[in-house]
Amino acid sequence: MTSTAQNPTPRVDDLIHREQSAIACPYPIFSDLRSGGGVAWVESLGAWMITRYDDVRAILRDTERFSSLFPTGPAAGGEALMNGIMQLMQEPEMQAVLGSTTMQRGRAAVLLNADPPEHRRQRRLVNPAFRPDRIRGMEPAIRATTERLLDDVCRELSQTGSVEIVSRFAVGLPMTIIALALGVPDDDLATFKRWSDDLVMPVGNHNPSTEQVRGFVLSTKAFNEYFLARVAERRVTPTDDILSDIANAEIDGEELSDDEQLGMLTQFLVAGNETTTKLITNTIRYLAEDPELQARVRADRSLVETLVEEMLRIEAPVGGLFRQAKVDVEINGTKIPAGDHMWLLFASANRDECKFAQPDRVDLDRSNVKEHLAFGNGEHFCPGAGLARTEARIAIDLLLDRLDDIALAPGNDFEFEDSFVLRGLKRLVVSARHHT
Ligand code: HEM
Repeated sequence: MTSTAQNPTPRVDDLIHREQSAIACPYPIFSDLRSGGGVAWVESLGAWMITRYDDVRAILRDTERFSSLFPTGPAAGGEALMNGIMQLMQEPEMQAVLGSTTMQRGRAAVLLNADPPEHRRQRRLVNPAFRPDRIRGMEPAIRATTERLLDDVCRELSQTGSVEIVSRFAVGLPMTIIALALGVPDDDLATFKRWSDDLVMPVGNHNPSTEQVRGFVLSTKAFNEYFLARVAERRVTPTDDILSDIANAEIDGEELSDDEQLGMLTQFLVAGNETTTKLITNTIRYLAEDPELQARVRADRSLVETLVEEMLRIEAPVGGLFRQAKVDVEINGTKIPAGDHMWLLFASANRDECKFAQPDRVDLDRSNVKEHLAFGNGEHFCPGAGLARTEARIAIDLLLDRLDDIALAPGNDFEFEDSFVLRGLKRLVVSARHHT
């Protein structure tokens, strides 16, 4: 760690301490940091913030010099989690849970927190599970799930005149689809949702309560037990789904270990659900707030795809992830010693005026709209990008089919989730006229 601090503004600290005002609109903070050189040490984070597009992209593409071992931040998060675990160790029941063999499973460094050469081997084996024809094959299920959720949305609209879109729509779609892809039956969906919430908790929360850590521990154990059994089933009887691909992945004699498989399944939940929920919610919010935008996309549905892309750019669901310097490096003239951590801000890079003209404006005619970094870049580029894009496109297209005049309704407090990494509204209340 180094102390060559570059006047961190208090507002950066507000973001790290998860003050609502900063989480709700971090963009002016990022803009200041970009114009101040783009590289700033932040003591409260114990890391450098990297805010310019070119720097973020270059670091993402350089796995030789930058490690992914701590993708959600330096030891602070792990330490807080460890403190919670030490507390729980005082309770005999929790001691037994924490000492159980299933708690030790799935700990292998995989994908998000793996480095080459293991990471390259893992991606070779995992990429086929997300191949385009597999995603295309999932489209009928995505449509059917979206229609079912929209039935509920419409019912609520006719009863009360408004609907809370996060809980009624945006959470359900990615959750149900990944559950389906992992062979989780409908009856287990509520449990699966709880696991997903509990497992994602440490991301962007560096001081979890003991109760939050308890939820994390219990859900990890239950998740591991459940999926060890499902993976074993799929090895004997493979079906046409992502779980079977993961269970039976093998290329030229290379395969995934049980622990790698378990780690990956956990990551699909952690990395895939909330992110897609946030993308769908953000898109609906922009449509509700901007009748002109809504009218334009309604009139030309080929623009839905562009809109989703522009939403990923302007409201990156994953604000940023971390890398650690393996060797001494220099970024924009700032020397960063080996061992230091860097927070690569996708949300800032995506609004870098040197890359995107008028970056704070939604512009469906941007020629470089797809060059955003919301899915990362290089070797760790999100394997679920195709699935997330397909879900969001279908969700918005069918929503526009069923609902007219979508607008914000009374009852919005615009409170954001308690995380500085995953940024998204807790609730979004909209009104609309609907067709049944
Ligand atoms: C809008 C939705 C999504 C966003 C914004 C998003 C964002 C990201 C980003 C930024 C990365 C790069 C991480 C890095 O460079 O360290 C990533 C990786 C990853 N994503 Fe996504 N993701 C989304 C949806 C999904 C879905 C649907 C899945 C799976 C079902 C998924 C699974 C993963 C996994 C496993 C990784 C790790 C890949 C690796 O490190 O090699 N994501 N995602």
